[in-house]
Amino acid sequence: PATPPGTHEKREHWSGQTAFILAAIGSAVGLGNIWRFPGQAYENGGGAFMIPYVIALLTAGIPILFLENAIGHRFRGSAPLAMRRVARRAEGVGWFHVAICFVIGLYYTVIIGWAVSYFFFSFNLDYAEDPATFFARDFLQLGEPGTVSLTFVPSVLIPLVAVWVVTIVILALGLHNGVERLNVVGIPLLVVTFGILVVRALMLDGAAEGVEALFTPDFSALRDPQVWIAAYGQVFFSLSLAYGVMLTYASYRRRRSNITAPGLVVAFGNSSFEILAGVGVFATLGFLAHQQGIAVADLEGLTGVQLSFITFPTVIAQMPGGQIFGALFFGSLVVAGLTSLISVLQAVSSALQDKFGWHPRGSAVAVGIVSAVLSVIGFGTTTGLFLLDVVDQWSNQLGIVAGAVAMIAASLWFAGRSSELQRHLAAVSTLRPGRGWLILVNVVALLLLSMFVQKTTTLI
Ligand code: PHE
Repeated sequence: PATPPGTHEKREHWSGQTAFILAAIGSAVGLGNIWRFPGQAYENGGGAFMIPYVIALLTAGIPILFLENAIGHRFRGSAPLAMRRVARRAEGVGWFHVAICFVIGLYYTVIIGWAVSYFFFSFNLDYAEDPATFFARDFLQLGEPGTVSLTFVPSVLIPLVAVWVVTIVILALGLHNGVERLNVVGIPLLVVTFGILVVRALMLDGAAEGVEALFTPDFSALRDPQVWIAAYGQVFFSLSLAYGVMLTYASYRRRRSNITAPGLVVAFGNSSFEILAGVGVFATLGFLAHQQGIAVADLEGLTGVQLSFITFPTVIAQMPGGQIFGALFFGSLVVAGLTSLISVLQAVSSALQDKFGWHPRGSAVAVGIVSAVLSVIGFGTTTGLFLLDVVDQWSNQLGIVAGAVAMIAASLWFAGRSSELQRHLAAVSTLRPGRGWLILVNVVALLLLSMFVQKTTTLI
């Protein structure tokens, strides 16, 4: 089909399909896979979570990934520009996505910074004696529970600044030499390190019970709407959907690029990594339960932050060869985190370039510096931990659902771009989505809308 007006200007592009796939996987595979997924699965019925998760992936994750890639590729722009080309009044939807990306960047770096510190702590097992106290008192320097202090904490601040410096350098190197290279090197490295970790975890005593806990379905949990909301939320977050990131990355593909087949590679690659991480984490938890002589289901402290920074260090301290395991685990978190972080910042920077005509590097560096300052002020102090939870609730559970619905509503319902986008996909891709795809996207949007209402009422 003919290209829409206004989409002829030159745009940076990936060096090839593989580079795009690796970058998209780099965005998708992140802290969400290692740090969020196992905890979500654990809190939402363990094995029961796998069923809604897979359903969410097939019914929402993949169809919306196709949609986002199609919009970015056809309308060749960052989220606001592409949405504006979809419909003049839809530009705001793109800015909404950009705003969420910006917020994610602020706290994502904080966790990467923690992981950097823990990577180094692993060599001497500094956290071994009492990981919970070490994390809260020695590392974060939290006061009494509930108290908040605004003094900067050097142990948090220094790695945070270091992460920002590295990030700004990568952004300044540009799409090709920075973003693309980071992913081309980082993702294979991550797969190898993580593979080693999982194999090692599976050899621990009690690993089998841990893995069993992840995969034993508890069908009664399926009746709980919160479990479904969590599953859809996890798939969206994990695939970086409805943040305008996949849209932006697709806009850097050459005109005649296959969209759907690489999309499937990204979606299944991401979920495979996620399930692999789940297996690794649960095998490790099985070992912990075994050590404590209790069932995996009776373990405590398995939500995101606690899981990675308290429970894991506890296990690492008890296992033979814990130093290496610890370094590989936290090293993986850093790499996985950086490749996702770069993608959100690229989405923000690209939006500013498109809007104000800024030079790509200048805009990337400006975004990096402004984010760095806000992130250091917001999270370099002990308030960070409290903010983190609030931000995750609002941006990743509520904001993202609203963002997805808004994107679908604007492009398909109000601007009536359904058949155009479907034809676009069919024209450039080997694997052609049929009407079933459009029906799914529409149904999912309605479903998300009802989730949004449900979630808002529980949060407010
Ligand atoms: N997908 C990333 C993860 O799983 C997080 C992310 C969300 C990255 C949104 C970019 C945009 O950790």
